[in-house]
Amino acid sequence: MITIENLSHAIAGHKILTNVNTHLPHNKITALIGPNGAGKSTLLNAIGRQFDATAGDIYIDGAALKNIDLQDQARRLATVAQHLHVGSRIRVIDLIGFGRWPHAKGRLVQADYAAIDAALELFDLVELSGRFLDELSGGQRQRAFIAMAHAQDTDWLLLDEPLNNLDLKHGRSLMAHLRHLVDAQNRSVVVVLHDLNFTLAWADHIVAMRDGTIVFDGPTAEVATSEALSDLYQTPIEIVPMGGHYFAHYHR
Ligand SMILES: Nc1ncnc2c1ncn2[C@@H]1O[C@H](COP(=O)(O)OP(=O)(O)OP(=O)(O)O)[C@@H](O)[C@H]1O
Ligand SMILES: [Mg+2]
Repeated sequence: MITIENLSHAIAGHKILTNVNTHLPHNKITALIGPNGAGKSTLLNAIGRQFDATAGDIYIDGAALKNIDLQDQARRLATVAQHLHVGSRIRVIDLIGFGRWPHAKGRLVQADYAAIDAALELFDLVELSGRFLDELSGGQRQRAFIAMAHAQDTDWLLLDEPLNNLDLKHGRSLMAHLRHLVDAQNRSVVVVLHDLNFTLAWADHIVAMRDGTIVFDGPTAEVATSEALSDLYQTPIEIVPMGGHYFAHYHR
């Protein structure tokens, strides 16, 4: 479990996170949802230690994040940010190889190459493995970064809007794969999603944010009501049962 205790963060006097208390359960898919500017990426980046929050604590499986060294952290937790920056003259296969560095200690061995091959296969990148990142479409590049995080082979996978740019098939395939990681491999996934229907179809747990605070959190089946979601997004959302789960209707 990842526990967030009294986390606050401000930049230049502007409060971005205010007293955030929540937990991200182990061995579940947790969807981090909420309107633009809610603080979702900031929270995810705090867990991924892109910066030190102004106040509060984060614990990963019982250990205070600030006491975990970066090498150890990279073996426990992989993050794919919302905005992906990397030198564009990097080939897909080499990018995915970066995911193996926390394990390889400087030299890739057979197990690392096997993990890279598996990630290429899983994210439909085999034919693109020799391409440079700036020769890819937006969705292909997104898949390459997710493949890198996957190759890191961590207990925790944190993905910020991974469905960005993905077509229907690859979006669904990604969510099904995350489900497999949780159900078959005992991993834990935290994913920022804007598409409520993907959230309702795949997430076990929801953490909903607005204005840098938690509005509600809990098991999807309990918290994802028309009232709560309409209030969160300040827009009418109808939740209707469909095919064993729920469907959000808000398109018109
Ligand atoms: N470096 C920064 N300096 C100042 N303000 C920032 C900075 N980064 C983020 N913010 C502000 O913090 C708030 C939360 O931003 P954040 O990126 O966490 O939102 P988000 O929930 O991920 O939104 P989105 O759905 O649009 O990605 C926003 O109001 C944003 O303008
Ligand atoms: Mg964001």
